[in-house]
Amino acid sequence: MEIGNEPTLETPLGPTGKPLANTLTGLLRPDPACTERNAVALPEELSPARARADFFSRWTSEARFFDEIAQQMAAELKPLDPLTVARYREPQHPWFHKEFRFQLLGNLRGKRVLDVGCGDGINATLMAKFGAHVTGVDISPGFVELCKQRAQLEGVEARAEFFCSPLETVELPAGHFDIIWGDGILHHLIPELDAVMRQLVKWAKPGALLVFSEPVSLTPWLRKLRKGVPIHTNATPDERPLEKAELSTILRHLPDLELKWFHLLGRLSSLILPTCQTYEHAPLARKLAVDMLGRVDQALLSVPRLKTLGGMCVISGRKPEPR
Ligand SMILES: C[S@@+](CC[C@H](N)C(=O)[O-])C[C@H]1O[C@@H](n2cnc3c(N)ncnc32)[C@H](O)[C@@H]1O
Repeated sequence: MEIGNEPTLETPLGPTGKPLANTLTGLLRPDPACTERNAVALPEELSPARARADFFSRWTSEARFFDEIAQQMAAELKPLDPLTVARYREPQHPWFHKEFRFQLLGNLRGKRVLDVGCGDGINATLMAKFGAHVTGVDISPGFVELCKQRAQLEGVEARAEFFCSPLETVELPAGHFDIIWGDGILHHLIPELDAVMRQLVKWAKPGALLVFSEPVSLTPWLRKLRKGVPIHTNATPDERPLEKAELSTILRHLPDLELKWFHLLGRLSSLILPTCQTYEHAPLARKLAVDMLGRVDQALLSVPRLKTLGGMCVISGRKPEPR
């Protein structure tokens, strides 16, 4: 792509060459905040033209990567497993980070939830099934289509809407959401993390809960060791675990930030549960083994000096109430 001749931030193109929709204006009743474009803070060290090209190539490669996964998942789309729905409706095993997060959410009835980087839509659909009104945003047109199909299949399409846009440019009303949820998204947005966090907090109501689950690495030698363990991970070229600097950035926006660590030994669960077998359907012995890893992790990771050995962190905080 020629610098200076690339698409603008206002008209990013998707992997098929069509413009990615950026159509949230008018989603809700007119809100003055929606009439302003969200300013994307371009990295200062890059010239504006170079930075636009940089954004564009990152968005395109992310959308292409996740579109491929979406295509496979769409071919196998089926209703959510009732055991999975029950698991997250009443989470009993907080040593699993997703159950822990659903416990944090509490009663979702009537809550407005924003799911950023909503991916395959399983989380958004679960939250809608539990009574929330969910807005999902994702850069992958394939995933957004899958989310819509899934919501329809589960009969929650009236409470779940999905939009295809880079998070960096999407327009949403200020002070609107009770909960902002992100599962594995912030570590895809590291160059813009400060600007993105500012936007997320702006879209949240005062006192709203923001909850993220992210890979975090505060121990460089452990990161190297993990890379050596032959556990398959699907990663895009632009992602990496969050480090101390990124956690400090998040802290600036959420002063009451709480970090809960997971995945020291828990990462080995995937070796106990073959990929085709979910925890819900695993034989009792395997379930108990995975539970044990999770419980041991919780004991080890509650020791202050050991916390940072965890590979996954649930990051949560509330938007400060005005004084
Ligand atoms: C690791 S996946 C997580 C998906 C989903 N939250 C889940 O838990 O299954 C990251 C998601 O972020 C989306 N994504 C990456 N960069 C994005 C951006 N700049 N704006 C919006 N979505 C983005 C990808 O398309 C992908 O669906």
